[in-house]
Amino acid sequence: MAKMAASIVESGEDAFRKIFKFYKRRNPPPDFSDVVDFSKNAPSDKVVPAKLDASTMSDVEAARVGLQPVRAWRAFGLQGYPGFIFISNPFLRGSQPYWVRQCLKTYPQKPNICNLDMHMSPSDTQDIWGKSEHSLRVPPSGKREPKTLLERLRWVTLGYHYNWDTKTYSASNCTPFPSDLHLLSSQITAACGFPGFNSEAGILNYYRSDSSLGIHVDESELDHSRPLLSFSFGQSAIFLLGGTCRQDAPTAMYMHSGDVMVMSGQSRLLYHAVPRILPAPQGLGVLEMEGCTLASSLQESTVVGPVSEEDWAVCSRYIQSSRVNVTVRQVLGPGQNFPETPSSHQGTDTDKEVGYHEERADTENGKRKRGDSDTVDTVET
Ligand code: OGA
Ligand code: MN
Repeated sequence: MAKMAASIVESGEDAFRKIFKFYKRRNPPPDFSDVVDFSKNAPSDKVVPAKLDASTMSDVEAARVGLQPVRAWRAFGLQGYPGFIFISNPFLRGSQPYWVRQCLKTYPQKPNICNLDMHMSPSDTQDIWGKSEHSLRVPPSGKREPKTLLERLRWVTLGYHYNWDTKTYSASNCTPFPSDLHLLSSQITAACGFPGFNSEAGILNYYRSDSSLGIHVDESELDHSRPLLSFSFGQSAIFLLGGTCRQDAPTAMYMHSGDVMVMSGQSRLLYHAVPRILPAPQGLGVLEMEGCTLASSLQESTVVGPVSEEDWAVCSRYIQSSRVNVTVRQVLGPGQNFPETPSSHQGTDTDKEVGYHEERADTENGKRKRGDSDTVDTVET
């Protein structure tokens, strides 16, 4: 009985759910006038400038990972959300194509794990890019063609691979975290006042124009004093940032290509969601490779390198209709280890250490439900 009552309460109309549905609605389209747009430089009653530490990296170090000098970043906080920092596209012109290419071509490769691995063999998922690029390069023929693997990609995990079923990370399910993405993440977090950030887990989300991400809190990491970093590329989205409970009405904001969010301190454990993907406001001009200030500002030892014309043709076609989000998380505090699971002692709770398995996670309402699905991105809660 108690469980039943709890599930009714949980699926009831809370304030967050109402606003999520409001922004997700197609017909009639919602009024977007309350959505905070950090790209329109307007500190207001809600938006306040955020202080950064520009001494943590030189302009050359910033440029190596494709970032503008820290003093040029437009960083904001939100009234009522201590620890939340929004950096409005700090990337150098010409550097986003590198990161987009990494997200579409490099990070989906083994040993990283993706949704397609849940029901395909490693040999079938080992060259997602190679198996998709030809179809994505040629213009659509008009007749319905089967979706390429790249178009069916919904998530990729890096480092400590998040287990969607158990909602845990484990010591035994870990592969090396990409060094370029770690360098980018540690530079940004340092400038935000968090030196010594370890990028230990990453989740990439691939959104089509009708995708959404349900209401959730990221609490599986063991050290919540470390920030969580989020990067957006491609099409825009509405992000809802709520409170510690679902009765708290969330604040809506736009995320555009290149925007970076840092969730730290009291904002690290707030409910959030992505109810809607929206066309990028000025097309994707920010993603042009031309007018590239990059090559000239970099002489050597750069992380961000050029993207070939052929690769960019595929990437730019893909992001015409899609959004990619990368979240980077530190899982363990300094010197911290994973606790021993009950299964390692008692042989119960068997799927704790199994990693991914084929059956769909039977998660309850209100939790992210992604698991092995490659047709439904996430379930609205
Ligand atoms: C997540 C997340 C938000 C986004 O992956 O945990 O909240 O912008 N992503 O896609
Ligand atoms: Mn999240």
